[in-house]
Amino acid sequence: MGLSRRQFLVRTATCAVLFGLAPGLSACNGVIRHDSRKGEAYDALLGAIGQERTDMLWYASLAPSSHNVQPWTVIIDSDRWTIGSASSRWLPAVDPENREMLLSVGAFVENLTLAGSRFGIGVRSRVIAQSPNDPELVELQLSKVSPSGYPLERLEKRMTLRGPFQSQEIEASDFSSLIDGDEGFFYFPPASLEAAWLDEATIAANRQQVKRQDVASELASWIRWSDADARQYRNGLTPESMGITGLTGWYVRNFYGRDDVLNQDFRKNTVNRVVSQVAESGGWIVVTSDNGTPSALIQAGRRFERMLLKARGLSIGIHPMSQVLEEAPWKRDVRDALKVQKSPQLLLRVGYTRDYTDPVSVRMPLDRVVSFRAG
Ligand SMILES: Cc1cc2nc3c(=O)[nH]c(=O)nc-3n(C[C@H](O)[C@H](O)[C@H](O)COP(=O)(O)O)c2cc1C
Repeated sequence: MGLSRRQFLVRTATCAVLFGLAPGLSACNGVIRHDSRKGEAYDALLGAIGQERTDMLWYASLAPSSHNVQPWTVIIDSDRWTIGSASSRWLPAVDPENREMLLSVGAFVENLTLAGSRFGIGVRSRVIAQSPNDPELVELQLSKVSPSGYPLERLEKRMTLRGPFQSQEIEASDFSSLIDGDEGFFYFPPASLEAAWLDEATIAANRQQVKRQDVASELASWIRWSDADARQYRNGLTPESMGITGLTGWYVRNFYGRDDVLNQDFRKNTVNRVVSQVAESGGWIVVTSDNGTPSALIQAGRRFERMLLKARGLSIGIHPMSQVLEEAPWKRDVRDALKVQKSPQLLLRVGYTRDYTDPVSVRMPLDRVVSFRAG
């Protein structure tokens, strides 16, 4: 599927010229979300379930997920929809208990519910999973309600932002707008002892994690270095979505592959990047849950997503940094270090920013997510 030698040379020359004349010209950028249309799968669904329900699914799929694996599945049976997860999109190395998967599915259900409310489709949900490994997790019942007026643009524009962040504290009024009455959120300003612990622990946990072969090869299998891979899989991390753009982006898209994730330089760069990221933040927001049951984790994912959807309007960037919750001993110590009564589920580096772009992470066509219950 790679470029022919001729195409490659033409493109290389074009890029070289463009970089000389006008660095950053889009001709040299990689695949981003707008490059893939909603696709044939979207059109086929339109015929089967109508515009509004199809759009609900499309908006839901814009939810965040670890490594952008998009673990969710939907089985449609008239007004009863069952949300589950696909085991081929689990992350056994970094997320052996499917904790992050359930948070991501929660975010997906929240998007689905908000988009439905806008279209006058009410969604009642009930968690049916007993175990995080159950293929079916949440049952939804759809019904007619009056439309809510929720701004769908928020769903389209939400994105993970990894910087640059200003280092000033988040205003109390902005934090309360972000959480909007939801419980289980804690904010630790940059000068606090808890933020200092999170900074240090994040660096240390990353330093430990980059040495793990299972983590490196799992990550390698979810990075879409080439444009061809990004277009084919439409999930995982692209150079653009990791913030690798410009000349470096062009270089890695054309010359990087699986093995580069496994080499020493890549691992060293990962830690160096984390060191500079934590040095530049307006503190941390921590999302907690009452316990670790599937139901509590899905609820936490829903609250997390409701908050993310308000961040852009307040010029606040949000960057989940999960390694502390993935590596021992930090995952065991985090609760005491932060002096919180509940279980931390998401550690979010936050900060004011002027640098929101349009979202770049790719999404799978809906036929890889949606199926119909055989009746
Ligand atoms: C549970 C969860 C954990 C995540 N952990 C990390 C993380 O440790 N580091 C990171 O850079 N992004 C993390 N992310 C962000 C995802 O990489 C991001 O959502 C995904 O690539 C899609 O991009 P988008 O959010 O811009 O749509 C996490 C997201 C979720 C839902």
